[in-house]
Amino acid sequence: QTGHFTFDPGYTSTCSTESQITFINGNEGQLLYRGYDIEDLAENSTFLEVAYLLINGELPNQQQNTKFTNTITSHTMLHDQIEHFFNGFRRDSHPMAMMCGTVGALSGFYHDDTHTTVDAARDMAIHRLIAKIPTIAARAYKYSIGQPTVYPDNSLSYAENFLKMCFSVPAEPYKVSPTIARAMDKIFILHADHEQNASTSTVRLAGSSGANPYACIASGIACLWGPSHGGANEACLKMLQEIGTVDRIPEFIARAKDKNDPFRLMGFGHRVYKNFDPRSRVMQKVAHEVLDELDISNPILDVAKELEKIALEDEYFVSKKLYPNVDFYSGIVLSALGFPTSMFTVLFSLARTVGWISQWNEMLEDPSQRIGRPRQLYSGAEPRVYTPLNKR
Ligand code: SDX
Repeated sequence: QTGHFTFDPGYTSTCSTESQITFINGNEGQLLYRGYDIEDLAENSTFLEVAYLLINGELPNQQQNTKFTNTITSHTMLHDQIEHFFNGFRRDSHPMAMMCGTVGALSGFYHDDTHTTVDAARDMAIHRLIAKIPTIAARAYKYSIGQPTVYPDNSLSYAENFLKMCFSVPAEPYKVSPTIARAMDKIFILHADHEQNASTSTVRLAGSSGANPYACIASGIACLWGPSHGGANEACLKMLQEIGTVDRIPEFIARAKDKNDPFRLMGFGHRVYKNFDPRSRVMQKVAHEVLDELDISNPILDVAKELEKIALEDEYFVSKKLYPNVDFYSGIVLSALGFPTSMFTVLFSLARTVGWISQWNEMLEDPSQRIGRPRQLYSGAEPRVYTPLNKR
């Protein structure tokens, strides 16, 4: 039974949301989804099982897992008119712009007023958003590289289907290796939810007004796009590529410490983790698995490992409790899988849609929930009288 535990998260919070979904202990580097350790889930579970767990609170049994998986699989197609929507983007539009725009536009294709009950809204969100977000993400990628749409293949798993929609072409057979598909699934699990981070808080605030789930998830995608948040994986790989070789690392370490230099080590530091981000440990293992499977020797991985080693021994980073976060290795893995940097945050938003929906759903189910209304500390002008223009 899910008890009502009050864990010590290792920090005091002045403004917090109560939730039973994800627990982070920043000091211990601990991340639990509904009580299950992230490393345990990444090793033993699947992304759709984790999606079921986050939304429903328990891991599915055989029958529930089959029903949930079949429901998702049978809703992966997009309304054909969404093709016209995509065709309105410039080819060089950032795929995150296409994600933001298209997910928000789903309101015009699938949302109607009958979906006002919690169950109907939840079913709609699950069937339509979790099922279709990989199809939208893959479509954004194909559109940006000028290749034809690859429709979903319902005989494949969630991760295999996504990889096929991204990397297959009609002219050739396509087969994804189980190791690569498993790596993709693990990456989705690691990014599925993360408590009340900036984008999840955005989704909750949007949802608290009664906005439809498509609009709410689109607001989460918009927030995640920022380089300090979900955009860090793209920024981190670009930073590693700019460093280029191990001998240039000290130059960048010095810049990261220089208060007059806005440069920060991308993939390092976290608002909550003041210890290792447990996801970065799993991601480092996935990086080795993928590079070994694809027989890729990537010098950037050598730079990343050396940078991590130096930074973890550096007195400044130690004193500031700056450790690698989930984004530090993810760019290396995604690049090895064949994704361009512009797709990294898209993949993050694909996986995080499950967390956003579970948090949005938890909020809908709370009868005491009211519209969010953050207050402020006002430091503006004292009350004063209007001065006519000819007197100013
Ligand atoms: C994600 O919230 C979530 O849960 C987010 C996320 C999720 O799953 O949703 O985990 C995903 O967003 C991970 C974070 C990805 N972002 C990056 O990797 C970008 C680089 N990191 C930084 O921009 C930064 O660490 C933040 C934004 C993540 C956190 O910034 P804070 O809140 O300023 O960090 P802090 O309070 O711990 O900083 C302590 C000190 C500060 O210096 P002082 O003011 O004490 O002098 O360390 C400095 C910071 O300036 N610092 C860094 C640094 N991160 C913090 N200095 C150099 N390089 C860095 N990366």
